[in-house]
Amino acid sequence: MNNNIVDEIKSRCNIVDIIGRYVTLKRAGNSYKGLCPFHNEKTPSFVVSESKQFFNCFGCGESGDVISFVMKAENMDFHNAISKLAESCGIDMDKYGFKNESKKNEIYEMNRAAARYFYKNLTEKPNIGFGYMKKRGLDAKTIAKFGLGYAENSWSGLTDHLKSQGYKEEFMLQAGLISKSKNRYYDKFRNRIIFPIFNTRGKVIGFGGRTLGEDGPKYLNSPESNVFSKKNNLYGLNLTRQDINNNNYAIIVEGYMDLVSLYKNGVTNVAATLGTALTENQCQLLKRYTENIVLAYDADAAGQKAALRGIELLHKTGLKSKVLHVTDGKDPDEFIQKNGRTAFLELIDHALPYADYKLSVLKQRYDLSTSEGSIDFLKAAKEMLSGLSPVEADVYIKIISKETGISEGAIRREVNSETQENREIKINRSGSFNQSKGNKELKDETGNITLQKYFVKLLAVNPKYMPKIQKYESVFTQPACYRIYESMKNIWEEDSDIDIKKAADSVSPEDGEVFQHILDNITFPQEVDTVFAECIKTAEIEKMTARQDKILQMLNLLSENEEDKIDVLYKELMTIQSELKKTGN
Ligand code: GTP
Ligand code: MN
Repeated sequence: MNNNIVDEIKSRCNIVDIIGRYVTLKRAGNSYKGLCPFHNEKTPSFVVSESKQFFNCFGCGESGDVISFVMKAENMDFHNAISKLAESCGIDMDKYGFKNESKKNEIYEMNRAAARYFYKNLTEKPNIGFGYMKKRGLDAKTIAKFGLGYAENSWSGLTDHLKSQGYKEEFMLQAGLISKSKNRYYDKFRNRIIFPIFNTRGKVIGFGGRTLGEDGPKYLNSPESNVFSKKNNLYGLNLTRQDINNNNYAIIVEGYMDLVSLYKNGVTNVAATLGTALTENQCQLLKRYTENIVLAYDADAAGQKAALRGIELLHKTGLKSKVLHVTDGKDPDEFIQKNGRTAFLELIDHALPYADYKLSVLKQRYDLSTSEGSIDFLKAAKEMLSGLSPVEADVYIKIISKETGISEGAIRREVNSETQENREIKINRSGSFNQSKGNKELKDETGNITLQKYFVKLLAVNPKYMPKIQKYESVFTQPACYRIYESMKNIWEEDSDIDIKKAADSVSPEDGEVFQHILDNITFPQEVDTVFAECIKTAEIEKMTARQDKILQMLNLLSENEEDKIDVLYKELMTIQSELKKTGN
């Protein structure tokens, strides 16, 4: 916060004038007196000093300067009190780096008016939204609690309403409430159930709308803006943070309906991601209320994938996390409606902690009945084990040993070996691209960094390379590069195209910087297709070398009596080594 604006406000806003708008003040000697607005009284004990620019109530003890008065009287936070005062005494906020702050407040106000309008549509006149809500098990009390609403099937219902309240269309457009096409404005949300989205300060920052018809996406959200940012907010948290704090854990769900439905059924320590993967900022936000998170995502593959990503991030952020598996129904909403609160709480009791969850996922992924599958499983588990404390790791090493048949000693050696040795082998292997050195933005160098960066840039230039690059995705060993690649892949899978801005928005700010650095610094010395072909060649070599390493590793772990397996692996090793020789490696 810029101190100058505080000084400027204090010197330009006379406390007597400002308080005089709320309280009838009478001069009394050197100061002014009135009835205290902060407690009930019949004789004035509220004193305002003009010379000190200070107020004091001898009845209730409330005191402070002009800014704290406005905060208290208007129930505003510091920021908003400042902007209100600046406005009333004509201070240009922009000069103090306070841009948009007052405009932001106006948008919040307008959003609130819009929310009220949607709510009335749903509750005060016949409409198909209300029947739909009833069908989904929601009652009037829940609707009121969340301020749910209905956007009529009309092109101008909201626009007309807000216009009648004095708002300009241009402003509605800026706030993302309406759209414009061929010089005509029209309501953005039509024939949709409306979920107003509040921030934790209780401001309406945006809307989510679920369609009741066939057109458009199932859920439509307000566009991203300086007022509404999906990655910095969680739906429902304004209502649930106290219960999250009291229960000392938070349940995270994917959908608006999941949250509302759990809440209605008495599970109130919940928050919902706004249709995106859990972000680092959301984790930080949750951390203010609890350290314990239970992910309750949809039972489908997408939900499980999101859970895996989420738990990894939570672990990294230092939050204790568990994953709950919805056993009956496709999502928490369906489950709790069918089975009730107690059954849902039982699911929470059975939720798997980080390490157990990861092991269960890895077990599904690899075939533990073959030695190759077991070793792949172990390799994947290694990374997870290295993130645990030695005592915890030991517990899981025992479990893994039982499940794979590999001895505990071998697993321990394997887990401890990774760090130095393997990494060096990987880093020295450079294919036809030289290893780049001394990258500040890619501290965690593993694998062929240059190749990973070229692939990222190639995808940005021509998303159509995705299917081919996907075949070599194991080259993405550097964590930031991997995450960037992953979000590009997700976008590709959804849109069959990759919008660079969308990709940049979907990664953390740190990864965003790495991404930008790659876009700015990787240049192609030849035609794009030629560079692409070169990269694929290099990736093929990488892949073969990695396979060679793995075979060597497996040979190490196999015991002598497993001759036939050793035999097969040796044959494969020979083939790979002769292929590699052909390429000059
Ligand atoms: P219903 O129960 O059918 O209302 O939906 P849901 O709450 O079960 O949602 P679903 O599992 O389909 O999706 C979970 C969340 O992902 C939703 O609450 C939205 O936030 C988001 N989502 C789903 N579909 C879309 C979409 O088409 N566009 C956007 N932007 N988000 C979506
Ligand atoms: Mn649902």
